[in-house]
Amino acid sequence: MIEFHRVTKIYPNGVVGLENIDLKIEKGEFVVIVGLSGAGKSTLLRSINRLHEISSGEITIDGKSITKAKGKELRRIRRDIGMIFQNFNLVKRSTVLRNVLSGRVGYHSTLRTVLGWFPKEDVDLAMNALERMNILEKAYTRSDQLSGGQQQRVSIARALAQKAKIILADEPVASLDPLTTKQVMDDLKKINQELGITLVVNLHSVDLARQYATRIIGLKAGQIVFDGSAREATDKRFSEIYGKPFEVGINETDREFKYESIN
Ligand SMILES: Nc1ncnc2c1ncn2[C@@H]1O[C@H](COP(=O)(O)OP(=O)(O)O)[C@@H](O)[C@H]1O
Ligand SMILES: [Mg+2]
Repeated sequence: MIEFHRVTKIYPNGVVGLENIDLKIEKGEFVVIVGLSGAGKSTLLRSINRLHEISSGEITIDGKSITKAKGKELRRIRRDIGMIFQNFNLVKRSTVLRNVLSGRVGYHSTLRTVLGWFPKEDVDLAMNALERMNILEKAYTRSDQLSGGQQQRVSIARALAQKAKIILADEPVASLDPLTTKQVMDDLKKINQELGITLVVNLHSVDLARQYATRIIGLKAGQIVFDGSAREATDKRFSEIYGKPFEVGINETDREFKYESIN
């Protein structure tokens, strides 16, 4: 369903974000990408829906090249791909329902969506998505009145209302406390299992990856250094790949990753 063919991304300043990535993700997989900060996780994820342009190679979605797609065709491919961010990316001053409805914009003319006019079917879809995420009672609340965990569930509902077949999530729980983290990860698992939505999720916690992923991909310096099941992603294996704690990074994210990978 998602295929990378020899994909390389070099940023204008010469930094290599991705190096010669070959990767095939099948429908219904729950893939978690792990790696230290700077490994290329966000670059990989954002290449899939072309938020980032790749430098060479090709990415196909269901056999169609998103790399070569233009205009209407590109919008069609993107419509099937939802995105979830660490900071939720909601319009803060809009209601929850408005935010979820924005998942429908890819289906209508610009004029219609600028005027904020959505057909009843869209409102039904949005309400159903909110119900599935157990947050229907907040439909008419302003988004910035919600807790972080609730906001993230709204952003998942937006992707559901979009009828995304693939959801990309870039560190979706990095701003959340452990309890809320579990709720959001459980919600992602639920939509993966109940709706068959393919998930590609960046996490910096190997522990969390092991709890949820059907497949874990490890990145290091823009290359795939691990690709296997949660069972194969042992602490021993990861400490071999990423090195001893004192040899790598110094920021908070790296520290957390290291401790988990050597425990
Ligand atoms: N816009 C950019 N311009 C230049 N370099 C970038 C840009 N975005 C990311 N990078 C670099 O690309 C590499 C991979 O970054 P990123 O994909 O954000 O890693 P991760 O998400 O794993 O932390 C890092 O070295 C980072 O500094
Ligand atoms: Mg990142």
